[in-house]
Amino acid sequence: MALPSLMLAALGSSAYASNTDLVNPLIGNTGPEPNYAGGMIPSVAPPFGMTRWVAQTHQNWVSKTPYNWTDSDYIHGFVGTHQPAIWMGESGLVAVVPGASDAAVNAIFEDRGLRKAQEKFGASLYEVELLPENGGSINVEMTATSRVGHLRFTFDAKSQPYILIQASRPSQLFHSTPSSSHFNTTYPDGYVHIYAQQQQICGYSTEMQDTVIAPVSTTALWQEHLREGTGHGGFKGWFCARFDAPFAGHGLTQGKEQREDDIDGFGAELSAYARFALDQKTVNVRIATSFISMEQALYNLEQEAPDGISFEDTEAKTRAEWEEKLNRVELKGGSKDNQTTLVTAVFHALQYPYEISEYGKYYSALDDQVHEGVSYSGYSIWDTYRAEWGFLLLMAPERIPGMIQSMLNDYKEGGWLPMWKNLIETNIMIATHADSLIAEAVLKGFDYGYDLDVAWDAVWKDATVPPVKDWETLYEDREEGVDYEVRAGLSTSYGLPEKGWVNDDVHSESVSRTLGYAYDDYAAAQLAKRLGKPAWIVDMLLKRSMTAPWLVWNADAISQDDYPSDEDKKRFEGKTKGFVQGRNSDGSWAAPTSGFTEGDKWAYSFDIAHDIPGLVEKRGGNEAFVESLDEHYDGGWDWFGNEPSHHIPYLYTLAGRPDLTQRRVREVAGSNFNATPFGLSGNEDCGQMSAWFFFSALGFYPVNPVSLQYVVGTAFFDKMTVRIPVPKHHGAEAKSEKFYEEATHSYVLTVEAEGAQEKLYVKTLWVNGEERPIREVGYDEFGKGGHIRFEMSAEPVLEDSRGAIVHEEL
Ligand SMILES: *[C@@H]1O[C@H](CO)[C@@H](O)[C@H](O)[C@H]1NC(C)=O
Ligand SMILES: *[C@@H]1O[C@H](CO)[C@@H](O)[C@H](O)[C@H]1NC(C)=O
Ligand SMILES: *[C@@H]1O[C@H](CO)[C@@H](O)[C@H](O)[C@H]1NC(C)=O
Repeated sequence: MALPSLMLAALGSSAYASNTDLVNPLIGNTGPEPNYAGGMIPSVAPPFGMTRWVAQTHQNWVSKTPYNWTDSDYIHGFVGTHQPAIWMGESGLVAVVPGASDAAVNAIFEDRGLRKAQEKFGASLYEVELLPENGGSINVEMTATSRVGHLRFTFDAKSQPYILIQASRPSQLFHSTPSSSHFNTTYPDGYVHIYAQQQQICGYSTEMQDTVIAPVSTTALWQEHLREGTGHGGFKGWFCARFDAPFAGHGLTQGKEQREDDIDGFGAELSAYARFALDQKTVNVRIATSFISMEQALYNLEQEAPDGISFEDTEAKTRAEWEEKLNRVELKGGSKDNQTTLVTAVFHALQYPYEISEYGKYYSALDDQVHEGVSYSGYSIWDTYRAEWGFLLLMAPERIPGMIQSMLNDYKEGGWLPMWKNLIETNIMIATHADSLIAEAVLKGFDYGYDLDVAWDAVWKDATVPPVKDWETLYEDREEGVDYEVRAGLSTSYGLPEKGWVNDDVHSESVSRTLGYAYDDYAAAQLAKRLGKPAWIVDMLLKRSMTAPWLVWNADAISQDDYPSDEDKKRFEGKTKGFVQGRNSDGSWAAPTSGFTEGDKWAYSFDIAHDIPGLVEKRGGNEAFVESLDEHYDGGWDWFGNEPSHHIPYLYTLAGRPDLTQRRVREVAGSNFNATPFGLSGNEDCGQMSAWFFFSALGFYPVNPVSLQYVVGTAFFDKMTVRIPVPKHHGAEAKSEKFYEEATHSYVLTVEAEGAQEKLYVKTLWVNGEERPIREVGYDEFGKGGHIRFEMSAEPVLEDSRGAIVHEEL
């Protein structure tokens, strides 16, 4: 792994020694409120790392991340977090908190904050200087491997330094119904044990905030295990912290109580601490984590940061992992901020899903057992099926079979493919887009390393087996006390021959579901075709996918329908006719505002990505369709921070107006992304926002991911080169490919767009030497490398260079 990274660094011709130096983990951390913020945690860890380490400014839970740059004058410790996204819960948090005091140890969150002087963020290294109130300073450097945090404290303290390891804390559980939401304070248990001779503190946290929305079959199983006393009885986030300095004292704290010399404790609000001699200048703490056991944590420590390793060596290892990935992208042109934005997007998109297997074993919270094999968590699939998965297929092919195997393991252990897996299934968002992930991977040639028959079984089950109590359950967002949600509404209407929509009077988010299921059926049909399934299966899925969207299409609906008062009706008057609308079980229309999630009828009317020609026709042809897109943007209906808006700017191109796609894409990029902590206008959602930016910068975007066609936009840089890792199964054949580079063992994709910063419009497009209508490029034209050239223009170009109007009949 080290060799290619060194070579790539040498080959790189951007102005910066390494893209890793351009990464700014603060990008997308904060915003005016959580829904208008990236919610990214500025952590250190390698790509797809299991435990990410971050300075702690806030207690984190659903809606709050551990670090908030807006309000970060005080640092309250350093935490190993497993919170994948701002609207998801934390699990198994452990905190490392330095201090200086000859007597009292400050364990309470509100009291233990230390003012920060300066702070430095990077992909593999974080540094801060802390100023204790009684004088002196504590310098902290932090890096991490996948399962081990490595912190180096340099004390210049007026009193005895100590380091506290927190195993349990008061936690907030988020309960939400459509009418109200509230937090509930709970006190999860933790365990600590001090091994003073070995200079080691181990223990675990039982905190898992998303259990409130776990499927009931999961929680029932946990209860059973607790009763049987199998030794599991629920989740534990284990840790073992090893110090490189002798303990000058030690003890436990529980709440406000301090027990000097105690070594073993269990319960709420529990921490253990070690004191060091006043003249102890530096202390290295290597803290290993595991979801399996203490022994496993120690094994992980030995594998990733063994005794004797220096801080510099741990940091260099993680940095090398980032270099290997980030230096695959080479940029020419654009400002330093433009390059920072792009490289940080790649950095973000390479964090999810994150590995939770530990050297061939993993703890599954789905069945509360340790298994052999591979597992990942942090699947936000309603978001990531759009572009993030396509990004991973390109940039991390070595991970794909494992990520799919992980989903199949979930299927075996919990009965279903994941929807939003945060260690457990959380039922967050809708539809079974894992179907799309598997279909896209198989269609792109990733059909090895897992059992294709099991994959098909799981996808087929999604398409044909409804959730339990389908008639009685609303399956609303974050509904508690329900089982696996999967395709809620499948048996009550969607899957019935004479129906085909999700009933708005039976289920929440009915329109969004109907459209999501239709897309998944389309994806499943492509998979079935590829796997040679019987024709009736392909036909059934395809028919359902092409019919369902139009069953919730109200051809007479207009924008102003949504407003009860005449005054509002006038204010929101628009020309567009024909929108998606919810339907009840008796076939009647539901209220025009009902049945949507993270979007409204404007966004969702464009969210029929597998049948854009059908959509254009329903809206009255290309011209009327283009007008409806203009009204969508100019009328203020677009909310790019939510995913259903991501592909919309690309639809102009499919209606013969690539110039308008080009304009909108640049507007979207400029107003929703920048190189500051406010640099993402909406939640990162496990890499989906950043993957949009990555593909858009290349000049094309996967509107319909399983079509393997990418709709052309406008490239952002004079030149962007991506050295695509060669997937294992391409090994030998790669050498014969046209765009293969021996020196880096990569496929090379080059996108040229001279003058792209000043000229946003495209005049001519060449794909692999051939001039092309400005419409689509195929995965087969760039997935194994390729050369795409945009001739840019300052003015919109309505005709392509051959003189023909780019206005294809659909
Ligand atoms: C960070 O804190 C500020 C100030 O309290 C708040 O307005 C903002 O919403 C927070 N950001 C996030 C992402 O929670
Ligand atoms: C708070 O959580 C506890 C423990 O899970 C639960 O018993 C209680 O009903 C919850 N209270 C509220 C108001 O949600
Ligand atoms: C490049 O950065 C400039 C500001 O430095 C910004 O105005 C522009 O929108 C950025 N371009 C893209 C494509 O993000």
